Order: sequence, then structure tokens, then C-alpha cells
Amino acid sequence: MKVLIVGSGGREHALAWKIRQSPRVDTLFCAPGNAGTATLGTNLPIPAEDVEGLANFATREDIDLTVVGPEAPLVAGIVDVFRQRGLRIFGPTRQAAEIEGSKIYAKSLMQRFHIPTAQSALFSTPEEARAFLPRCTYPVVVKADGLAAGKGAIICRNEGEATEAIEQMMVKRIFGKAGERILIEEFLPGEEASVFALTDGTHLLPLPSAQDHKAVYDQDRGPNTGGMGAYSPAPLVERTGPEKIRQQILEPAVAALAQEGRPYTGVLYAGLMIQQQEPKVLEFNARFGDPEAQVLLVRLEDDLIPALEATIDGTLDQIRLRWRKEAAVCVVMASQGYPGPYEKGKEIQGLEAVAEMEDVVVFHAGTALREGKVVTSGGRVLGVTALGETIAAAIERAYTAVKQIWWEGVHYRTDIGQKALRG
Ligand code: AMP
Ligand code: GLY
Repeated sequence: MKVLIVGSGGREHALAWKIRQSPRVDTLFCAPGNAGTATLGTNLPIPAEDVEGLANFATREDIDLTVVGPEAPLVAGIVDVFRQRGLRIFGPTRQAAEIEGSKIYAKSLMQRFHIPTAQSALFSTPEEARAFLPRCTYPVVVKADGLAAGKGAIICRNEGEATEAIEQMMVKRIFGKAGERILIEEFLPGEEASVFALTDGTHLLPLPSAQDHKAVYDQDRGPNTGGMGAYSPAPLVERTGPEKIRQQILEPAVAALAQEGRPYTGVLYAGLMIQQQEPKVLEFNARFGDPEAQVLLVRLEDDLIPALEATIDGTLDQIRLRWRKEAAVCVVMASQGYPGPYEKGKEIQGLEAVAEMEDVVVFHAGTALREGKVVTSGGRVLGVTALGETIAAAIERAYTAVKQIWWEGVHYRTDIGQKALRG
């Protein structure tokens, strides 16, 4: 079969790597892809947000299955467009993806269906939002309603910081339309964890636990990024109880969306804050996490294609997936300056040596080919992913590989996975 993967990050390289191993797949395209996906299939010069362009390509090439990595095309309705044209595609519809695309919609759904989450108030004007601040207990979290590339939640320690966050989002409009409406939310103490499940709208197939590290520097210092590394399994989720999370959060969310006439098909990702084993939802996402997908997919023993198809066909109850017992760790290597401005075009050295290592896969994110050489072309550049008997062993193997890779200005955290060892 012919498969098209939409996106260009480490998550999409990991999807391409896994899907390429399926005996059923003979042709793979990636739009737009990166230097890593180029080794597995054909990269297309079509941006992930060009829904019409992608649908035209899929129609013309008779693509059997399209798999969408990032949120932007999902929220823009790529699944609806493909379905209208009779094309098979993995991901939620525009209305179902609103669970990620609008934090206000997600919050309202959680409140109406009693899914545990932080208390929160909604504002459509800066005046109303500012007037609310003297009544708050600090810290609070100010959140833009729409997509803001992972930067739309600002933790404010006092009224001054909250006033500034409101100014940035609603007056200066740093996130454009995404900040037209905001939530001001109770700050939840605790530890963060992520859970993922495939769902066909009715049935739920939870995936193993995984956790990312959002802050750019060691010890969770510095600004948040898309994720500087990840590990799986996540002891915090295991301790809290995957079954409890399924019953309190994942099942009610899937049922709520179905009841609202927005049945959800695809990967449902819940970002949780857990305190004393009680999970509350910080956010839902409509896709795999990046870099969580990297650590999940290297642990998957079975073919991914039947699970993706069953998700589309509503037959997920017939799928069982087997996972490797080993732990996986992914260390993201980034450009100096990320998540702020950074330089591109730096030649990456050491990839050949690491390619020889057993149980290590280097997933590309912001990379490109220039005159036959792999160069940096984004903020997050590589996700060096390793398996090990334990998380400690996987950490050691991942960093052994990381130390062999270099480019001018490379930055990575040195403590990926340590959170898991602390228990
Ligand atoms: P979100 O985009 O809603 O996931 O928020 C991004 C990050 O902000 C989360 O990963 C948390 O670290 C933090 N955050 C968001 N909401 C809250 C909250 N209510 N309490 C504490 N931290 C939060
Ligand atoms: N790693 C966080 C995310 O994918 O949103």
C-alpha cells in the first residue's frame, strides 16, 4: 500500500520509520518531511498546512492511507476534506480536534462531563480579564484559547505578571487570533505526566505511559519548548494507575465527544497534573506527542498499520498491541537559542558512527540535506532514542550516542530521564 505522512518533525520521522517496517507498505511519502524521512521514502514539497494540496496529491497518487502528525492541519479540517474525497486518513475531524484547537471548548467539555481539571474562568475582553485579577489566589495560569505552538500557557506569580500576560495575549496579540479569548486558571501543584490512547470513537486502546521534559535547560529551568526529551514507561503514571486514568479521564472524554456528535478517531493525548495520585487534565491534544511518539514507537513490537486502520474503521476492539519490555529514552538535540531565534544550516557530524549502534535510532526533526550533507534547519534538530533493560540503561545508551554527534551551537539537556529514576 501507499502511505502519506503529514509533517516534518521527529514524531513524523518516527512514524515513517515504524510504518516503513510494515510488510504491507511498499511506498511512503512524507510532506514535507526532513532529511531523516528522505531515507525512508519520498519527501514532497507540500507544507503540512496545505490541506488542498495534500488532498490533490493523495487523490492523484491513489494514496491508501494518510497519517497526520501535527495539530495544525487537524484543526484546519484535513480529515474532513480527505473523507469528503473518499480518501482514508488517520486523525480526528476538525470538530473533534477542537479538543486541542480550543482550550475553551476543551474546558467546557470537561466541566460538563465531570472530567477532573483545574477551575477556570473565560474572558473575551482585556477589561473583564483585568477586573478578575484582584480576586485571584496566585499563582494563576493565563491561557490563550487557540493554538500557540506550545507557548500559550503563562504561569503568573502575581497580579502584575497576570496583567502583563493579558496585555501580551489580548492587546498586543502575540498569538494573533488564538489569544482573542483567554482562560484564567487555577494553578495546579503536582507532577506532570502524559497519557495516550488510540480511539475509534467508541473503543479505547491505551498506549504505554510516556513523559516528556518541557523546559529547555536542566532541572526544568528556562522557557518551555515543544519537548527536550522523553521516556517510556513513566513511573508516575504507573503509580497513579493507568486503569484509574482510563476510567476518570480517557473514557469520559471519548464518550463526551461522541455524545456531542463529534466522535473522535485518532490518538487522544491527555496532559495531566498528578498530585497524591489524583490526576487532573491540563490539556488535551489531538495527536501523538513529540518527542513522546519516538519513545512509544521504538517500543512497539507489532505492525502499526492494522491499528491505524482499525482506528479508522471502528474495529479497535479487535486489536491488541505488544510492546517491548525495555524502557526507551529520547534526548532532543537542539539549535542554540531555541525556543527563541536560532541559526540554521550547521553541518551535523557523527551521524554515521551512531547509525552503527545497536538499540539506538536517531530521529530527525529540523534537518535538511544540502549538497549531500545533513544540516540543521529547525529548533529541535534530532531525537536520539535508545532502548535499555531499565530507564537508567536507556539513558546511558542515549547519551553515549548523543556525545558522538556535534554541530556548532548544539544544545541538549543532560538530565533527560532522571525524573523517572527519582521515582
Ligand atoms: P498547556 O498548554 O495547557 O498544556 O500548558 C503548558 C504547560 O503549562 C503545562 O505543561 C504545565 O507545565 C503548565 N500548566 C498549564 N496549566 C497549568 C495549571 N493549571 N497548573 C499548573 N501548571 C499548568
Ligand atoms: N511534547 C509535547 C507535545 O507534543 O505537545
